Amino acid sequence: MSTQEVLQIALELAGLSEVPADTAVLVPGQNLRKALVGIDLEGPELLWAKGEGFDLVIAHHPPGGPAALNFWQVLLRQVELMVAYGVPEGVAQAAAAELVREHRLQNHARNYLRLPALAQALGLAYVNIHTPLDEIGRKRLVQAVAELPPAATVADLIAHLRARFGEFRNAQTAIEVVVGQSRNPVGRVAVIHGAGTNGGYPVAKALFDHGVDTVLYIHIRPHEAHRLAQEYGGKGKNLVVTGHIASDSLGINPFVAALRARGLEVVPFDLVPP
Ligand SMILES: [Fe+2]
Ligand SMILES: [Fe+2]
Repeated sequence: MSTQEVLQIALELAGLSEVPADTAVLVPGQNLRKALVGIDLEGPELLWAKGEGFDLVIAHHPPGGPAALNFWQVLLRQVELMVAYGVPEGVAQAAAAELVREHRLQNHARNYLRLPALAQALGLAYVNIHTPLDEIGRKRLVQAVAELPPAATVADLIAHLRARFGEFRNAQTAIEVVVGQSRNPVGRVAVIHGAGTNGGYPVAKALFDHGVDTVLYIHIRPHEAHRLAQEYGGKGKNLVVTGHIASDSLGINPFVAALRARGLEVVPFDLVPP
C-alpha cells in the first residue's frame, strides 16, 4: 500500500472528495506493510516505530508540515456546521473568525519542519490525517443523536452514546454536562466536530442564540465552558463534552478496520478500543 492509497481510504470513509488543509503526506512511501496508527505520534513514537520494524506512521493531529501551517483553514468548516443548524451566515462567519484569528497567529511560533525531518531521516513514511477521521466520527455521532426519541433528556443522550459506542464505555473519561443539567430535555442538538477543533465560546453562543438547545463538543477549554455556563446554564441550554481521546478514537477505529481489510498490518497506539 502507498501513502496516497492510505489517504484515499480515509477520504472515502469520510465521504470527502478533496484532501482537507490539515491533512497531508509528510514523507511519502510505497509498498508499505506495517503501520502504527494513533492520535499523537511524534518524536518518541517515530523512534520506537523504527525500532519495531514499522514502515509507516499515521498520526491524527498534524505534527508539522503544511497540515500544521494550514490547519486554521479547516476551522471555516465551523461555518457550514453552524449554518446547517440554523445560524445566519453572517453570525456564523463572525464566530468562526474569532477561532481563525487565534489559530493562524500561532503558526509563526511553530517548528513545522522538525517531525517530518525526523521521519525522513529515519526512513519512515509519515502521514497525518486529521479532518477526514474526525468527519467519520462526526457522522457516527450525528447518526446516534438522530436515533433519540423527541422527548429525550440530556441523560438519555449520554446513555445512548455510551450504549452505542464502545469507545465511550472503554474510555477513562466520562461524557460530561458542562453547561445545563442532565435532566433537561435535549431539544435541538448540534454536533460540532470535524471542523478543526471545538468551536469554543463563540460557536456555542451562536448556536444557543439561534434555536439550538444542546451543543455537543469533544472538548472545550475550562474558561470558555465557565463563561457559557454563566450565560446559558439557567436558560435550559446544555453543552455536553464527550472526551477528546475517546471521540477521536471513534473516528479512527473504522479507518483502522478498513486498512486491515486491505491487507495492511496495523498496530493502534494511543486509541481507545471500540
Ligand atoms: Fe480529532
Ligand atoms: Fe483531536
